[in-house]
Amino acid sequence: MIIAIDGPAASGKGTLAKRIARHFGFHHLDTGLLYRAVARDVRAVDGTLDSPEDAGKAAENLDPETFDDPTLRHPGIGNAASVVAQVPIVRTILRKFQEDFAAREPGAVLDGRDIGTVVCPHADVKIFVIADTGVRAERRFLELHERGEAVTREEIFDQIERRDKRDSERADSPMKPAADALLLDTTKLGIDETFDAAVELIKRKIGQLGA
Ligand code: CDP
Repeated sequence: MIIAIDGPAASGKGTLAKRIARHFGFHHLDTGLLYRAVARDVRAVDGTLDSPEDAGKAAENLDPETFDDPTLRHPGIGNAASVVAQVPIVRTILRKFQEDFAAREPGAVLDGRDIGTVVCPHADVKIFVIADTGVRAERRFLELHERGEAVTREEIFDQIERRDKRDSERADSPMKPAADALLLDTTKLGIDETFDAAVELIKRKIGQLGA
């Protein structure tokens, strides 16, 4: 069983994916962490983020043991991640890791930008999470503020807009809902309401599949 959860920056897909995985007893992969880790590793050697050579090398040598590194959550890394994410060789290398993860039993929940369209086009359930940019920026601001990061609302809003544009306009695997994705608008929903709505969508979809 594969559940794909895609959506723009700070749409709440990560929190949702984690809870869905726990609820169904499935494995969870936050695929954004892979791109964030590649960006971190390119920077660590003073490499160029959009260089296929530098970013490809970092993707090739990626160490999954480092995915819990808290610096990966810094806002600057999110921006850098969206630059390395434009490099096709990086996407090709990371795709293999994600496909292998998706095949894990009894099931896997992957969240990202291109899970339903490219990584797992045959996922059993695809959810595309959306929310107004202002609401997403406010959520990300509060999250970072709570962690003690010195950021402003305006900064976060601008970063999110810029990143969404880059992610949806890139040539390779742009962010977009798969034709068969179920849209979940969380603009007016809290975490629990989002979770309940997603479980409903998943149960309905699995019921249709005859599972
Ligand atoms: O948590 P947030 O939504 O802010 O970002 P993320 O999911 O950690 O993703 C960071 C960046 O990685 C995104 O802006 C994308 O450029 C890239 N990414 C991607 O291209 N494909 C994915 N499947 C996941 C992330």
